[in-house]
Order: sequence, then C-alpha cells, then structure tokens
Amino acid sequence: MAVHTVGIMTGGGDCPGLNPVIRAAVKTGIKKYGWKIFGIEDASMGLIDLNYRSPHGNLWLDMDSVAEILTRGGTILGTSNRSDPFHYVVKRDGKKVETDVSDLVVEHAKEVGLDAIISIGGDGSMRIAQQFIEKGMNIVGVPKTIDNDLAATDVTFGFDTAVQVATEAIDRLHDTAESHDRVMLVEVMGREAGWIALQAGLAAGAHAILIPEIPYRLEPIAKRIQDRTARNRPYSIVVVAEGARPVGGEISHLKKQPGAMLRLMGAASHVADGLSRLIDQDMRVTVLGHIQRGGSPSNFDRVLATRFGHAAANLVAQEQFGRMVALRTPHIISVPISEAVANQKLVDPNGEVIQAARDLGVVFGDE
Ligand code: F6P
Repeated sequence: MAVHTVGIMTGGGDCPGLNPVIRAAVKTGIKKYGWKIFGIEDASMGLIDLNYRSPHGNLWLDMDSVAEILTRGGTILGTSNRSDPFHYVVKRDGKKVETDVSDLVVEHAKEVGLDAIISIGGDGSMRIAQQFIEKGMNIVGVPKTIDNDLAATDVTFGFDTAVQVATEAIDRLHDTAESHDRVMLVEVMGREAGWIALQAGLAAGAHAILIPEIPYRLEPIAKRIQDRTARNRPYSIVVVAEGARPVGGEISHLKKQPGAMLRLMGAASHVADGLSRLIDQDMRVTVLGHIQRGGSPSNFDRVLATRFGHAAANLVAQEQFGRMVALRTPHIISVPISEAVANQKLVDPNGEVIQAARDLGVVFGDE
C-alpha cells in the first residue's frame, strides 16, 4: 500500500511544541514524500463530523499553513480532551450520556481518503489511537504532555517549557515570600506524576515538595517551616502537585462530568488550610494552572518536537503503523503504541533525585 494522503491531529490538553511537530510532519510529508495532508480539527471532532468547522479551520494543509508556527504555543489544529469517540457525549432526553461513535470516525476517514493518521497526544490520546488501530486504522503516535508521565520516552515535549515557566514563577514568589515573611504555596500541574513539581521545586529551592507518588502528612511540613522561622528564616516555599494527596486521603477534585477526565482542583489550598491549623504564619496560595501549558516552546521542546514530527512522517512512509516515536537519548526510536500506553513513568520515591533533595533538606511530607 503506498501512502498518498495523511491525516494529522492533536488530542488532549494543549502543550508547548504541538505546532513544531505539525510543522515538521507536514513539511517532511509534502517535501520528502509528496503527500496530501488533512488537518483533523479539535482532536477527533474533525472526523466525527465531516462538516465540523472549528475557528482553526485547518483542513488541507500546505507549506503556507505551517509557516511561522515553530515558535507558537497551542495548536493550529485545535484540540480537545472531551471528544473521545469511544465515549462521546451526546444529549438524550435533556441528559448527557456517553455513546460510541468510533465506527463513524473509521467511515469518515475512508471518505476523506486517509491512508494513515499521525496522532499527537498524551496517554489518553494514545489509548484512543490503540483502539482505532485494533479497528484496522493506520496510526502513528507522537507523545506529548507537560506531565512527562509516559514511560516509553525519556521525555515528552512540553515538559521542559512547563518546568521553565513554573521555576520562574516560584522564583518570583520567593521574592515576595522573603519580603513579607510568608509561606507561599504554589500549585503546579501533575495529575499522577510529580515531575513538574519535583523539577521546578528543586530548581527554585523549594523547602517542601508534595507529589502524587509520596502521600504527605502535614506535621513534617509544618515542622520544616517552624525550624526555618526559628533560624530567622521566617518564609518558606511549598510546591504542591495538583495530584498530591494526604496519607489515607483523596486527591482534591470537582465532581466527574460525563466524557471528561476528573478535574483536579484545590490541592494547595487543602494543604494551606491544614497548615494554618498547625502554625501561625501568613500564607498565600498561587495556582499556576494553564499558564504552564501556553506560550512559546523552549529551545529543547522546539527541537524535540521537530525531531518527533519528522520521525513520525518517516514511520508513516515506512508503513510502520501502530508505533509511537520516542526519545531514547540521543536517538529517536519507535515503540508499539500498545506498549507505550501500558507503562506510566512516575517519580521513584527512592530514586537518586528525591534522595538528593532530602539530603539538602527538602521535605516531602512523609518523614
Ligand atoms: O495532562 C496534562 C494536564 O495539563 C494535567 O496536568 C492537568 O490535570 C490537565 O491536563 C488539565 O486539563 P484541562 O485543560 O482539561 O483543565
């Protein structure tokens, strides 16, 4: 089967580096292989409904479509983490219910004439891709997520930029903490993996770092803050991953909505509330939220994303479907998508980085 027409889509949360992947894949596809390239809008939406038009309006992509996007955050194709075709939400009798529209996607992909699809997404998108592969579709995956929690690749693009943003924000909060003698709690993203909290917290000299992999107790955190105050350092920085939870407790979240992933919210406020019952010190909470997901990708992310987009196009040309590109430093390799989604990359609580942080006095709340 020769490949002539390729679809490209971005799924899940946006992430710095999506546009450089699209640019590299489209340029390689057109210049090297002479393909026609179809931009699938808002994750699967562009294939669930062939008349769907998002404000992005990217259908057939040419070289002009990807000009000047290397440095831009977001995705020119639009994305969504609410359009899983296997759990698509429709309103029936005024109620939201999940339904399976995956056959429609397969049918529409044939109608457009897609020989293959490049799917750029995180673990959720790769799981959906795997289900479509099992339905006979030709898909190549590109891993993205600022959370960096995919085991198959050394690192996902977007993570480096998010860590830079978080580090800079914590540095700024450090100034105010010191000036006002305050405890500053900073909530960063990281649903199941604490990579952003750990990396940014370490780089910015946080005094406590709370991550999903290490359930915390409030007492060791309060003690660390009090010890600092006793040593005439009456300010502290506590970095909290959004997925951090107390020992025996739950993650902080809103009510689950149909077709949507659980929305985490309130982890740092929860810690502040608990700490304020143990210590008498001025506290403030800052939630960095989606600031970590937007903006121009870092140099590292631009280059990694470019290499991923190029490698994904080459995989399609070699008809190596069902595989996902990955970084195995210094090489770009590929792994089966099925294998990639089976393994999450979490922070090792007994690993060298955590141990180094502990030896330097960082508290994780489990001591
Ligand atoms: O998975 C990436 C991520 O940024 C998580 O860290 C976060 O919990 C989630 O996306 C937020 O998604 P949304 O854009 O739906 O709020």
